[in-house]
This record gives sequence, C-alpha cells and structure tokens, in this order.
Amino acid sequence: MAKQRAELGPAQWEEVWRNGETRWDLGGVTPALVQFLREHSQRGRVLVPGCGAGHDAYYWAKQGAQVVAVDFAPSALAAAQARYQHANITWATADVTQLAYPGQFDWAWEYTCFCALHPDDRAAYLDAIATALKPGGTYVGMVFSKVPKNAGPPFAVAPATFRELLAARFEVLVFSDPAAHSIKPRRGREIWFQVTRPGEPD
Ligand SMILES: C[S@@+](CC[C@H](N)C(=O)[O-])C[C@H]1O[C@@H](n2cnc3c(N)ncnc32)[C@H](O)[C@@H]1O
Repeated sequence: MAKQRAELGPAQWEEVWRNGETRWDLGGVTPALVQFLREHSQRGRVLVPGCGAGHDAYYWAKQGAQVVAVDFAPSALAAAQARYQHANITWATADVTQLAYPGQFDWAWEYTCFCALHPDDRAAYLDAIATALKPGGTYVGMVFSKVPKNAGPPFAVAPATFRELLAARFEVLVFSDPAAHSIKPRRGREIWFQVTRPGEPD
C-alpha cells in the first residue's frame, strides 16, 4: 500500500537509509545524465534535490558545475560526503519543498526526487524548484510514469498530469515519453523532460 504523506518525513527517510533499504541507488551516475552532459557544455550553478548518495551531484561537479546537493536524511548526506569527500559540492540539509535559494541556479537536476514525494507535495516542490532557478534556468531529468507495484514511493505520475504541473510553472522545451536513456529495468517507465523558468537570463 502506498505510504501516507505523514510517513514520508525526514525521520522515515532517515530510517530507510539506516536500514540500507536503498534499492533505487544505482551505485554511480545516472546514464541519462552522462548522455545529457555530453550534449550540453554549459555548467554554472546546479541544484540536485533529493541527492541521496550523491552520485549525480558528483558527476555534475566533475564536469565543472558548482553544485548544491540537498537531502533531508542526515545519513544520506553523510554517505554522500564520505564517498565524495574531495568533491567541491555544498551538501545541504533541507526539505526540497521549502528551498531557500531564490533565483540562484542555472540548472536543477531531477532524478527520483519528484517521485519520492507524496503527490500532495508535488506543487510545493515544483514551486520551490522554479523559485530556485534563475530566469531562463533549466529543470531537467526524469520521472516515473509507471511503477512496478501500485504503491509508493516511488509514486508514478501520469504524463498528462506531469505536463500540466510543468506547464503551470515553466516553458516546456522537451517532453519525451518514454525517455530514451533509462536503465534497462526502468525502460518504458520514465519521462524525460527539459523545461525553463520563464524570463530573460541575466
Ligand atoms: C529515492 S531517493 C533518490 C536519491 C537519488 N536521487 C538517487 O537517484 O539515487 C530519494 C531521496 O530524496 C530524499 N527526500 C525525500 N523527500 C525529501 C524532501 N522532502 N526533502 C529533502 N529530501 C527528500 C530521501 O531522503 C532520499 O535520499
């Protein structure tokens, strides 16, 4: 059965980390991010919400980005910091639905954070991402359109619902369903998107 909103707070996620129930963790960078950064040379300031063990945050940093990686489970950030201790990354403890970085980022990278949140938190999360981006900044990544069991997290989002949520806040540049570069077990179940915060870049 899907978890209730009250069961998805920092204490519950901390428990998940302490119990090592991190089956989603790829143990390295998300292949779709590698592919994306092959095609996009601009880096700048990058926000990685729900960074978990920090693999994608590290990859952005290795490619020259200034990265702020956010999670609210202390054990997630401890694992990330221990593994990537030499990386120049700001690891921040915060709730991604209440970010305090107005207009600071060129990019926000999405992977398994949106779908970790209870559906009732989606609007607040996307508002927080939109606010954290600079005008013209890009929110990019993947979300699940289908999950193996009808339970969450992860919570799948219907493509039409996701598109609507994005279009209410961003200019939608790319919306690919299914995503082209999912890992094999997730193939056909993810949407790739790239959207920008409206407004002229500085
Ligand atoms: C499914 S994991 C994904 C981690 C990482 N993105 C990856 O792909 O390996 C979701 C992460 O988001 C964090 N998280 C969930 N809800 C959050 C919230 N409201 N604020 C901050 N972090 C949150 C959890 O602690 C967990 O580390």
